[in-house]
Order: sequence, then C-alpha cells, then structure tokens
Amino acid sequence: HRHLLGIEGLSPLDIAILLDLADEAVEVSRQVEKKRSTLRGRTLINLFFEASTRTQSSFELAGKRLGADVMNMSVASSSVKKGETLIDTAMTLNAMRPDIIVVRHAQAGAVHLLAKKVDCAVVNAGDGAHEHPTQALLDALTIRRNKGKVAGLIVAICGDILHSRVARSNILLLSALGARVRAVGPSTLLPAGLKRMGIETFTDMKAGLRDADIVMMLRLQRERMQGGFIPSAREFFRFFGLDEAKLAFAKPDALVMHPGPMNRGVEIDSAVADGAHSRIREQVEMGVAVRMAVLEALAQHLPNG
Ligand code: CP
Repeated sequence: HRHLLGIEGLSPLDIAILLDLADEAVEVSRQVEKKRSTLRGRTLINLFFEASTRTQSSFELAGKRLGADVMNMSVASSSVKKGETLIDTAMTLNAMRPDIIVVRHAQAGAVHLLAKKVDCAVVNAGDGAHEHPTQALLDALTIRRNKGKVAGLIVAICGDILHSRVARSNILLLSALGARVRAVGPSTLLPAGLKRMGIETFTDMKAGLRDADIVMMLRLQRERMQGGFIPSAREFFRFFGLDEAKLAFAKPDALVMHPGPMNRGVEIDSAVADGAHSRIREQVEMGVAVRMAVLEALAQHLPNG
C-alpha cells in the first residue's frame, strides 16, 4: 500500500503485520535511546485542519523516533485563513517534496481526494465521520497485548456511534479480526446499516455491556451535530455514561477504553476513567508505537526506500 487512508482495504494479514511491527516499536519507545533510522533523510508533514492532542503529537514523536524531519503545519495561522483551498494548500506543501503527509480534515473523503493529487504517501489522521485508521490499529494493539487475541472477544462500542470515525474504523478492523462487535447508544446516535455489517445494536447499556470483554466509550461529537438532536450532558450520563454500576454488567476482567478526548461526567465517570479496568493511558502509549509501525510500513514503498 502506498497510502493509509482507511481500515477499509486492509486485509487481516496487513493488520497483523502492522500490529507485529507496533509491538517492536513499543520496545524501541521504552528504551532510553528511542531512535531508529528507518526514516532518516525523509520529511513528514502533519497537516491538521481539525484540533488534535494525541494523534498529532504521536505522529510527530513517531516520525522523530524513526529519524525523520517532522514539520507541523499550523493551519490556524496559515493561508487557509485567507481562503486557500485544501488542494491548493496540499499542492503547495507537495512542491516542498515531503515524503509523507499526515492529514486530518472535517470532511469525509477529503484525505482520499488529497492523496490523488500529491506525489508522496498520505496517512489519514481522521476525515469527518468516515475513518481514523491509526486509532483503530492502536485500539486493536491495546486489546491484543492485554487479552492475547482479538478473535472471539465481545467488544461494546458505546455512545455517539453515528458521528464517530473511531467507531467506524474499529467496527471494520475488529470485525476483520473476528471480534463480536456491539454498538450501544441512543437510537438517534446509532447509524443505519449496522445490522447489515453484522453489528448487534443495543439502546440499553446494561443489555449492551452484559458479558463484554471490552467496553469502548466515545464522546458526544457536538461539532458534527448541527441541526440534529443534541442530548443534554446530564441526561446522557444517566442513561449512557459509564459508571461502576453499569460496568458491573461487563465481564469481571473487562477493559475500559476511550480514544480521547474524554468528557468526564458525560460519557464516562472519573472513577472508571481512572480505575483498575481502564487502559486509556496505555492506548496513548500504543498510539506512538502504531504510528511508528505505519510510517515504517509506508517507508518500504517510498521511492528508493
Ligand atoms: N483519539 C484522538 O484522535 O485524539 P485527538 O483528537 O486528540 O488526536
């Protein structure tokens, strides 16, 4: 593969290879000297049109740990503010001869469009409500390292599924690896077509969490709800917020995950977010490793790579 635009298009073998590479990258990142030279001489540009804490910083660290020169494009102070289009911005950066561009954009499909125009490898760091492939890979890595496998596990993805690229990429990836994926949330936030994809749907948390191995919480994506139904935070927490009482319906050794950013007291209670079942901090560590793995895999297809 020349780009990583989504989980769609990756085979279970592609996914397994990336997760194996990421396991090695975890070891590199835990050493005092964290550097490899796979991307020495290469240039990586982070181009984020939407806010990010985890994804942007972990791509920057991943690139640097592999020896690349990393440039973070500051979109907020760029000529995008003067009306320059996505494609003109991308072509301008392309002319500076980067090897890899990592892109986040509010429009689904924007990253695919950009990938058709530029000469370098492109990584999708989230496009609208469409895909966030490196998030799904880091979630699978976290699950695999804790449970030893993904196949056969019951994974309950809970909350605002409708607007979530994380949910979509996770559904594709976890299903490809043989997990039993459930979607749990208010009917207004469950997209049509889940059943056709083999996903069980639940509008009741207790039923949806029963015997789950993994409970994956998602925030309400208010920025994507223009004109639609917006639940109140207090009511959402009462019915769909993960607290210890609701978590008790999952398996005793269930893991709690959240891609971040969290809204404590809305979709997740602090006691659970910071509790013994939580793997939320570990997910962040796995995020750097997975992004190192993705960059290393793409490097094999770069010209003269
Ligand atoms: N999970 C995730 O994509 O977080 P950021 O928006 O902070 O990058």
